[in-house]
Amino acid sequence: MELSTAFCLSAAFLSILLFKSLVKLFFFSFPSKGNRQLPLPPGTMGWPYIGETFQMYSQDPNVFFATKINRFKTIPFSLSSTLSILFKKMVTCISICTSTVRYGSMFKSHILGYPCVMISNPEAAKFVLNKAQLFKPTFPASKERMLGKQGIFFHQGAYHANLRRLVLRTFKTEAIKDIVSDIESIALSCLNSWEGKLITTFLEMKSYTFNVALLSIFGKDENLNEEGLKRCYYTLERGYNSMPINLPGTLFHKAMKARKELAQILAQIISTRRKMKQEHNDLMGSFMSEKAGLTDEQITDNIIGVIFAARDTTATVLTWIIKYLGENQSVLEAVTEEQGSILRGKEENGEEMDLNWSDTKNMPVTSRVIQETLRIASILSFTFREAIEDVEFQGYLIPKGWKVLPLFRNIHHSPDNFKEPEKFDPSRFEVTPKPDTFMPFGNGTHACPGNELAKLEILVLLHHLTTKYSWCIKDAKNGIQYGPFALPQDGLPITIYPKHNYHSNKTWRPTNN
Ligand code: HEM
Repeated sequence: MELSTAFCLSAAFLSILLFKSLVKLFFFSFPSKGNRQLPLPPGTMGWPYIGETFQMYSQDPNVFFATKINRFKTIPFSLSSTLSILFKKMVTCISICTSTVRYGSMFKSHILGYPCVMISNPEAAKFVLNKAQLFKPTFPASKERMLGKQGIFFHQGAYHANLRRLVLRTFKTEAIKDIVSDIESIALSCLNSWEGKLITTFLEMKSYTFNVALLSIFGKDENLNEEGLKRCYYTLERGYNSMPINLPGTLFHKAMKARKELAQILAQIISTRRKMKQEHNDLMGSFMSEKAGLTDEQITDNIIGVIFAARDTTATVLTWIIKYLGENQSVLEAVTEEQGSILRGKEENGEEMDLNWSDTKNMPVTSRVIQETLRIASILSFTFREAIEDVEFQGYLIPKGWKVLPLFRNIHHSPDNFKEPEKFDPSRFEVTPKPDTFMPFGNGTHACPGNELAKLEILVLLHHLTTKYSWCIKDAKNGIQYGPFALPQDGLPITIYPKHNYHSNKTWRPTNN
């Protein structure tokens, strides 16, 4: 009985979706009168409603784009079951058969029920990301509901500018300089808890980046309900990419409930802080200042959003770095040497052994490893914008309402921009890349305000990891999983061991070997 009800509801839901998208497809597929003379970009729109969604999401995105741009080698990919491998092959085959024409760096497609234009040309991507008056951010309504409609990601104009000012105030270099030692304590405590164990790198890195995010957002707030925040977040993220069906028992429903609870926890923190009337130098303090002029709902939505933006992104990059360092012995040795020399210098000068801000600015080799990982892993393969009006661009029409996707991954993997793009080679960043060809943190109006904090927390963790520990990757598989960011297979299981020159009382002894 329950099953049949669920089936009927799903069928009704799908029919409504299908009808809505057919209407959209009909209206959006034709340019408005004024621009009829301009052609649409080349490309195929795929099947009705589904478009090319399957081709794009059910396989390595490089394969999809290769069929369009004819540029990129594919990177290894494996799915766990034979069935899904067969499915993948079938989809790849369909994709290649239907896309015999190569369209260059700007082409049209149809995904997730919307007509869209995909862009892999750096100048064009920059244009789209900087012309806020022509292109606005766009997300599925279910994601907006889950993160909170007042979140920074979804807005343009004065409200967005105010939020950016407040966020940047907390995450700019002058502000994060003061929390280096607190980040270091978090890194050391994580590493200590991993010692001698088989860990899933991604899960543990998430715990590290979550704690750093909480530090930068709430400072060392003693009244923080950390346990509650973490529990709700875990449920929220499990439902984030689920089907948006808000019925009891679904992941989406659980996530929406967890979101409500998160809002209550945050309301409690806001109310306690108001009563205590103390100044706070953290993001919460910045949002709550009178000058900020934000309502409690706006504060809550943005705190939830920033944690969301900060955690999995940075944890994914850290996981890839561990993998690449494990596979490239000479690079690992160069990083270890750089980090060791910082410790030796401190010891020789009789300085405190703790890291400080200027130490983190003196790590060029390690910084290039981060840059190269951001390039090659391109964890945010692309982003979405929507044309606010008909836009004429490079002789083509981008019709009002169409989605526009700047393809970061393709820009980072183009041999026009990076020689031998599939090779992990941090030394390529000894020379500054061509303008606008490297944008792991986006570009323009919505570029990542947390990029300095992300780099800082990665450097701090790598410093202690490489000087005090070694690790080995279990069952080194080369597969990639997408969830939604590209991630090493199974989250990269590794075992971490203390180095022989790192003593159990946690002091570091420099050695000559
Ligand atoms: C390596 C880690 C990270 C990567 C690769 C990354 C990447 C990005 C990218 C590409 C965007 C722009 C998206 C777009 O234009 O649609 C973005 C936006 C954003 N990021 Fe990050 N990010 C990282 C870490 C962080 C951290 C640590 C924080 C917070 C402390 C953060 C907070 C944000 C926020 C709030 C936005 C939205 C900005 C706006 O809409 O104006 N990110 N990030």
